[in-house]
Amino acid sequence: MKLDLTGKRAFVTGSSGGIGQAIAIALANAGADVVIQYYSDKEGAGKTLAEIGPETRTMVVGGDVSDPSIVEQWFDQIDSEWGGLDIFVNNAGIDGERQTVTDSVIEDWEGVISINLLGGYYGIRQALKRMVPKKSGVILSVTSVHEKIPWAGQSAYCASKAGISMLTQSLALEVSDQNVRVLCLAPGAIKTDINKDVWTDEEQLDDLHSKIPMNRMGEVDEIGNLAVALVSDQAGSYVTGTTIFADGGMVTYPSFASGG
Ligand code: BGC
Repeated sequence: MKLDLTGKRAFVTGSSGGIGQAIAIALANAGADVVIQYYSDKEGAGKTLAEIGPETRTMVVGGDVSDPSIVEQWFDQIDSEWGGLDIFVNNAGIDGERQTVTDSVIEDWEGVISINLLGGYYGIRQALKRMVPKKSGVILSVTSVHEKIPWAGQSAYCASKAGISMLTQSLALEVSDQNVRVLCLAPGAIKTDINKDVWTDEEQLDDLHSKIPMNRMGEVDEIGNLAVALVSDQAGSYVTGTTIFADGGMVTYPSFASGG
């Protein structure tokens, strides 16, 4: 079976780098038209575009996912230029400053929530307004193993990812009978700029590996290709209201490999 997204119009937020970029490229390689979104990294968006190449129909939009009116403008633009949307990938996110709840700065905590959780909600809401009436569409949110695994110093990040997961599960109860699928893809430690400080430091990388039963970090293409499968009708048609983990086994409590 060859996964084929020909004729599907996809919008990937946060696709100027990292996992979002890989997803945008993988969707295009599978035949989809792709809207690339960036916040400040215009050059990164240009790289995504260049990698996708001129055979694919593309659009590039820039701005802040945590501004609901800007998000609405992007969807309106897609409507007017492409006549609608079939796949929405809610990917844009940040991990924020590492700080304990006790010592946290309110603006920092709110910043993570407003981009990851509220920003995700704004995009999902706009996608639904288009997909529910035509009774067709897929909304894939890129969460994290930290929708499930608690992380000291990253409470806002964990709360935002768990929030998107519960939003998605609740939403599945609202739209599953209308042929709109909603699901999450939860990557583990994927080698990107977000965790560069860890994988460039031997001691921190060893510690990270000890948390991954497969004993290695993931590559962005492993997430991009999985995203294609999940949004495709061929492989993903019966998947909704759930999270698929792609984490080398990170959520399996690896410290229990011995003892207990
Ligand atoms: C974070 C990475 C981290 C990984 C595993 C991801 O959600 O963005 O920084 O390496 O989770 O902890």
